[in-house]
Amino acid sequence: MTTSPALSVRVRATTWEAEGILGFELVPLSPGEQLPAFTAGAHIDLYLRDGMVRSYSLLNDPCETHRYRIGVNRDAKSRGGSQYLHEALRTGSVLTISVPRNNFPLDESSPFNVFIAGGIGITPLLSMIARSQALGTPWRLHYAARTRAHAGFLDLLEGWRGQPGAEVQLNFDQEPGGRMLDLAAVIAELPEGAHVYCCGPLPMLEAYAQATAALPPGRVHREYFAAKEAASTDGGFSVVLARSGRTVPVRAGQTILDSLIEAGIEPTYSCREGVCGTCEQRVIDGTPDHRDLVLSDAQKAANDRILICCSGSRSRRLVLDL
Ligand code: FES
Repeated sequence: MTTSPALSVRVRATTWEAEGILGFELVPLSPGEQLPAFTAGAHIDLYLRDGMVRSYSLLNDPCETHRYRIGVNRDAKSRGGSQYLHEALRTGSVLTISVPRNNFPLDESSPFNVFIAGGIGITPLLSMIARSQALGTPWRLHYAARTRAHAGFLDLLEGWRGQPGAEVQLNFDQEPGGRMLDLAAVIAELPEGAHVYCCGPLPMLEAYAQATAALPPGRVHREYFAAKEAASTDGGFSVVLARSGRTVPVRAGQTILDSLIEAGIEPTYSCREGVCGTCEQRVIDGTPDHRDLVLSDAQKAANDRILICCSGSRSRRLVLDL
């Protein structure tokens, strides 16, 4: 598999953060080395055994370049990634990772940030909170988890609680008297001009989409962990590679990525689920059938880029800058 640029890091510390959640601190192999800088909301890919690749958000302060921190929830529906990390990764292990990428950036011009986290969805928001603090942008966090025991990184939040411009609201729906977080009420109380960011499980993101439907799209941000709809595998079109002039047919049952790999071409990819953005390609001609969760509605409407692991084509011919 071709992947984005990779680097080796060592697991410096493994921490128990909450029920089912481990934290990993990753550092350069040589003391004194620095890691590539990242921006709030960024993620890295972890290249695991047997070609398994998994993406995790960086949760530490983006001003830090001596380490990356990630949080890994042991997912009951795990395809192997979180289980491997929980069971096999040890302090001292060496890992291959990608350089950071960011599909969920913080708008640093915002006068106020409202963050909504569900479970392990807290991780990208922690780096955004650290950046908001550095910028002096007031912020409010709504953090929903089943119980306090399932809520990771509360110690970090405690450090910010009570600081000027910081507000933390915790919501534990499975504790006595607990209720689901009322997203409509959260959005109804947004401060003037606030930007709102949500990361959590699919039902929360769907409720969030409904609650924010009337807001200007530029103020609404979200990140998905897993695919929402199936990849396009209808086939019946051709991909033209503009740089080589090659034409590759995409048959029924294949994604564009499948057909390119079969043709011996090695485009860059990672999650194969339309959530990480690694496989993005520029479209020169034709109309994509977008199925990803990375591009915004405006970016999809422009039809000038495509995520080839999941999206197909509405036109018989799709010309890519590849
Ligand atoms: S490989 Fe992750 S979006 Fe395509």
